[in-house]
Parts: sequence; structure tokens; C-alpha cells
Amino acid sequence: MEKIYITRHIPEIGIEMLKDAGHEVTVSEKDGVLSKDELISELQKEEYDAVLSLLTDQIDAEVYDAAPKAKIFANYAVGFNNIDVEEAKKRNITITNTPGVLTETVAEYTFSLILSLLHRIPEADKFTRAGKYEGWAPELLLGRNIAGKTIGILGAGRIGQQVVRHAHHFGAKVIYNDIKQNEALEQEVGAEFKKDINDVFKEADIISVHVPLLPATKHLVSKERLELMKEDAYLINTSRGPVVDEKALVEVLRAGSIKGAALDVFEEEPKLAPGLVEFPNVIITPHIASATESTRGKMAELAATNIIDMLKGEKPKHVVS
Ligand code: DGY
Repeated sequence: MEKIYITRHIPEIGIEMLKDAGHEVTVSEKDGVLSKDELISELQKEEYDAVLSLLTDQIDAEVYDAAPKAKIFANYAVGFNNIDVEEAKKRNITITNTPGVLTETVAEYTFSLILSLLHRIPEADKFTRAGKYEGWAPELLLGRNIAGKTIGILGAGRIGQQVVRHAHHFGAKVIYNDIKQNEALEQEVGAEFKKDINDVFKEADIISVHVPLLPATKHLVSKERLELMKEDAYLINTSRGPVVDEKALVEVLRAGSIKGAALDVFEEEPKLAPGLVEFPNVIITPHIASATESTRGKMAELAATNIIDMLKGEKPKHVVS
């Protein structure tokens, strides 16, 4: 019987799968994120063969030292910027993630943010609850249409491509920047590749960020690039917080040099940059773009499958490199 440690409770289906496969499963009893010291001391209590980690766990050499028998760290997320993959490679530890199962959900959520922002839904809801609605008026809370706008996608991976499709169906023109051009996507929805990322910032009415967090993408959305945006343009981020220079975003919002923003992720989660909550033209949500019952369940199944395969001696399907 092999021992598995799960750093926080996940949907039961994943835990049951691991138990049904004959493994002994320990789930952290803390209803919250384990600090690194807490994680290390938890891992040192037993000789774990596998660890199921979350994007809120910083997994590095010290954590690997605390679980010397662990063959796999299965991250319950598609993003894996919380894991020192190079160090894992040196130690022959396999790292897996959960791609694919959350693509549609995150793309839908991204599009909900775009719709909510342009149609000012959170503002309208607050206004109505506050008892300010005194009857229909021709110019009450005027929003903007998506049809006819130019949507700029940064990162045309699985999620970015699905947002491109939604944008196309809503009648928007799509431009995108990625490390590689995607001709199939261009043929499918008429998206236009912009080799120079700055052209996306200059031309788009709505910019949606879908790049992974890597050293090269930290502050990809920099102050200089935010300043290239049109005055009536919007920024949406459902990827990782540090891709956007959040302080610089507050500055351009304060200066009124962009129209608004919607963020599901933040530079120093769960903290927010000072000033961010002040703006009515900003939507902020707590990193829930993939949070539907079915998707979080599928992520649990996939993370469990990665561990089960590994402990059977097979290569898991979703090894990250
Ligand atoms: C991920 O999987 O990387 C998302 O940010 C959380 O679901």
C-alpha cells in the first residue's frame, strides 16, 4: 500500500479514486493553505510515495527533501509556476498537471468577465440593490457592445484559442500574439497574428491574457505596454497575476488612460494592489475561473489518475516539461 499526501481537501471523487486503487491517503486537516513550514512538517510525518499539491503550495528543493520517497508531485491545476520543475528533474521526480479539463470553463468565465465589464453588470447590480433605480432612462448605465470590437489575445494556447472562438461568435475581430503563429486558428475564425505584441496593445479594444507564468512572461503586461492601450480599452486577466504589473495597472486606471479591467488573478494572491478595489470599472474575483462543480471534479480525477499511473509504474499522461 503506497502513501499519498494531499495538501488540502479536493473534490471527493479524486480521493476515492486513490483509495479504490489501494493507496493510503492523508488529506491535510487544515482548511486553508499550508505554509511551507507546515507542509514540510506534514510531509516529514510519514514516508509518502506521492504528493497531490495545489497552485498555492510552493514546491521546491526543501519540500522535495521532506518527501524523499515521493516519485510524483501531481499539481491540481493546469498552471505549474508554483513548482520547481528543474529541481524535480534533477531528482527524477515526476511533475504532472491537469490540462484540457478546464479549458472550456476558464474560457467561458473569461468571456463572462468581458460581457460583465462591457455591459457594466456588477455596477448595475450594486446600483439596483442600493435602491437607486428610479425608473427606465435612456442613458442609464450605458455599456458597450462586443460585436465590432477588436479583441486581442495574449497567448493562443488551449484556453486562449477557445476565447478566440467565443469572440468570433460574438462578432468581434480577433488579433493575437503568441510565441508561434497558429494558421489553423486563423483559418477557423479569421484571427490575425501580430508578431509584435505591442501591436496588440495598440490596436485592441479588449485584451485578454492567457499566457503561462514564466520568467519571460512576468510583467509581460508592463507599464509601458499598458500605456500603449487605447483610452477606451479593457484588460482581462484569468491566467496568472504576475503577468500583469498590477501597480502600473492601478496607475493607468487612476489616470483614466484605459477604460476598465477584470481580474481573476493577482500578483500577490490573496493580496490586492493598493487602490485596486476603488474602481467601479474594475471587476475582481477570487481566482475562480475554473471553479465549476464538474470541472473541479474532473481536475481531481485527472490529478488522481496521474498518481495512480505513476505508482503502477506507467508514465502519467500529463507530465510537464
Ligand atoms: C489552473 O488550473 O492553473 C487555474 O488557475 C486554477 O484552476
